Amino acid sequence: MVFDELRQKIAKSWICFILLGVGCGLMNDAYAQNQITFNDHVVHIIHRNCTPCHHKGGIGPFSLITYQDVAKRADFIQRVTGTRYMPPWKADPTFQRYKNERLLKPHEINLIKVWVENGAPQGDLQKVPSPPTFANNPHLDIEPDLILPMTQPYEISDTGIEDFRFFSVPTNLEKDVYLKAIEFEPGNRRYVHHSRIMVDTTNQIRGIDRMSEYDPRIKEFQKTPLADEFMYGWVPGNLPIVFPDGTGKPLKKNSDLIFNVHYAPSGVPDTDQSTVKLYFTKKPVSREVKTFALRENDIVNQPFVIPANNVKTFYLRSAPLSNEIQLISVLPHMHTLGQSFIAYAITPAGETIPLVRINDWDFNWQSTYVFREPLTIPERSIIYAEGVYDNTSNNPENPNVPPKTVTYGWNTTDEMMNLIMYYLDAPPIGPIRRDSQD
Ligand code: HEC
Repeated sequence: MVFDELRQKIAKSWICFILLGVGCGLMNDAYAQNQITFNDHVVHIIHRNCTPCHHKGGIGPFSLITYQDVAKRADFIQRVTGTRYMPPWKADPTFQRYKNERLLKPHEINLIKVWVENGAPQGDLQKVPSPPTFANNPHLDIEPDLILPMTQPYEISDTGIEDFRFFSVPTNLEKDVYLKAIEFEPGNRRYVHHSRIMVDTTNQIRGIDRMSEYDPRIKEFQKTPLADEFMYGWVPGNLPIVFPDGTGKPLKKNSDLIFNVHYAPSGVPDTDQSTVKLYFTKKPVSREVKTFALRENDIVNQPFVIPANNVKTFYLRSAPLSNEIQLISVLPHMHTLGQSFIAYAITPAGETIPLVRINDWDFNWQSTYVFREPLTIPERSIIYAEGVYDNTSNNPENPNVPPKTVTYGWNTTDEMMNLIMYYLDAPPIGPIRRDSQD
């Protein structure tokens, strides 16, 4: 009891602290008189943190917009926010923080809790805020320069089986460009589960269009090295990647984009025509955004084989960096046997720079983690990563029952171990091009 009171006091002071500018006294009064209401307080948290996925046509299983939507699930919402199951965010915030993180603040979790415990009152009916709208382009206030939809709609089958497809989308770019931002817009928010965009400059992979990952011909296409194996990765809730001012990601003329799209099982026929939107740089580019990928070849304890009924840890290690770099983001990648992942850099002085830690890996919630500010990694530092894989029947995500020995491959039933990083070479090298649209 005393403990509860203490907790409430702590919660109050948190809210005071955060809402100082809004009026601390008011907030205290609200608590004292049990006046935490939906219309005054809770709605803002829900609209900002939940509605982007939980709306009609969004990927959340139900809408969280109106008082009725939220109040009828009040206990459930208290539980999923209290355990941080929602909003989904996998990177451990005690290890590193990010610009794009989706985390409720402790006072917001508490506010929902107190509201639910007080019977989830609606509050002043005059104050019903208007529901947020989901414009085509809610995150960028610039217009795309190149809109690249899949060449034709893809018919999602009604077999109730997960489907992994490749699509080839020619850019027909007449000149090399620098990208300021990359956005993926799923054509079917219900069934497009995640997507990865690759770049081919040889035009030799066009035959992959609409092929299933399980098609044996895929192995032939995999022999052609890609110019960029990971231009962009989209998962539900992921925002477009926007590169820092003065930087841009180069894309060669006449490149083809290869979409690798994962469709969730559907019991009814449906269609998808997803789109990539490319935003060219308008300001002078003085530094190129590069992709640095640690991959299976960089594993130090080869071979990359996860025997059936084993839990195994693999270690990635980069060569010492030949110059100082600035890391913009990291994206760890494993498949369904993955259990945990950690990446960090160690400087020549012995200092550890945390990059990302995921304590409970979830194949369905992968993300590009964008650092709040680009992270300087000194010359001769080494980047390390460790991934733990559980290939036993204790792993409910294990695609093989009983477990089978698993090795490298693109299919979800194979495994991968990547750490994909967007970075800049430091120091700046001066304008390399005034305007990529010239
Ligand atoms: C990035 C998209 C996204 C965001 C943001 C998000 N959700 Fe969800 N939510 C989902 C998806 C997808 C599911 C269904 C799959 C699952 O349960 O993991 C889900 C499931 C749920 C469930 C049902 C859980 C269950 O066990 O069945 C609740 C309750 C929920 N969300 C509440 C919330 C609340 C409250 C917020 C905001 C604080 C929120 N969600 C933010 C995508 C999201």
